[in-house]
Amino acid sequence: MKTIIITGGNSGLGLETAKLTAEKGGDFSLILACRNIEKGNSAAEKIRNETGNNNVSAMLLDLASLKSVRDFASGINEPVYALDNNAGIAGSSSGETVDGLDAVFQSNHLGHFLLTNLLLPKMTDDARILNISSDMHNPPYGSLVWNGTDAIARNAGHLGSARYFYSKLCNLYFTYELDRRLRAEGSHITCNALNPGFMPATNLQAGGTLTQEQIDHVRRTMPERCGDLEVSAAAAAELLTSGEFSGVSGKYFSLGTKAVRSSELSYSVENARELWDTSMKLSELRR
Ligand SMILES: NC(=O)c1ccc[n+]([C@@H]2O[C@H](COP(=O)([O-])OP(=O)(O)OC[C@H]3O[C@@H](n4cnc5c(N)ncnc54)[C@H](OP(=O)(O)O)[C@@H]3O)[C@@H](O)[C@H]2O)c1
Repeated sequence: MKTIIITGGNSGLGLETAKLTAEKGGDFSLILACRNIEKGNSAAEKIRNETGNNNVSAMLLDLASLKSVRDFASGINEPVYALDNNAGIAGSSSGETVDGLDAVFQSNHLGHFLLTNLLLPKMTDDARILNISSDMHNPPYGSLVWNGTDAIARNAGHLGSARYFYSKLCNLYFTYELDRRLRAEGSHITCNALNPGFMPATNLQAGGTLTQEQIDHVRRTMPERCGDLEVSAAAAAELLTSGEFSGVSGKYFSLGTKAVRSSELSYSVENARELWDTSMKLSELRR
């Protein structure tokens, strides 16, 4: 049995990925890691009924709480074959977490950073980690400037929706730095990132309330940034399970299973190390 954990597996991309993965058969056991356990349980039930794979369950995980992440990780008692760090919130989600950090930074990056590090010792030798990033790590209007992790971790409200762009850049720094560290340790665990593209059908885009006019505008002006929920979910499911990607690591896949280059800024080793070190401190991890 291969256990796959999908954060935010009750909605949007995570739910579709979970369905497609469950359809691959009873060899795969899925844990939907959800902040709302009722939503998680009903998604798990739906997937079991639709796919006939009975090895689908839900567990409580709130990425915006370091304690919740620790509780979740300590409740995992089986070897983990794959971790899909999928959950995310938009830059319009304001406020601070119970840990006093920016909600977008903690939900999209730090929670997954802590979760991954806590689960690494429980992973199989050939485990796969997939981080769902976005091409908005490189926004179409204006480039991002990295002023260090503290500038986005606390009191970042003034950054507005750019908080989301920075959190998705963090997903890439984390992917590349973790890959470097795994390779240096001689590990066979892989770590990749995926950009699913603009998917207006999920809840992320203004809670699913974008008008048709707004959706059409994006499709017309930025077709290269538009994704398709089914295609991206299929890509995530392949990256998590297919033999084709065994041993493939440190890559950024976009709008499917094609590896492409991410922004120049995202390859800064110095920034990635600074993010890693600060994230270790913020999540009180020792290694
Ligand atoms: N949609 C797009 O256009 C787009 C484009 C590029 C990248 N992405 C990325 O795709 C990923 C999936 O997003 P989506 O579009 O599928 O959006 P979605 O439908 O809103 O799904 C997001 C999931 O994350 C969960 N979540 C949010 N905060 C959480 C927390 N603190 N702890 C645990 N779970 C939490 C949500 O739970 P609830 O159901 O309880 O809210 C939901 O299950 C995200 O990483 C997003 O950045 C999306």
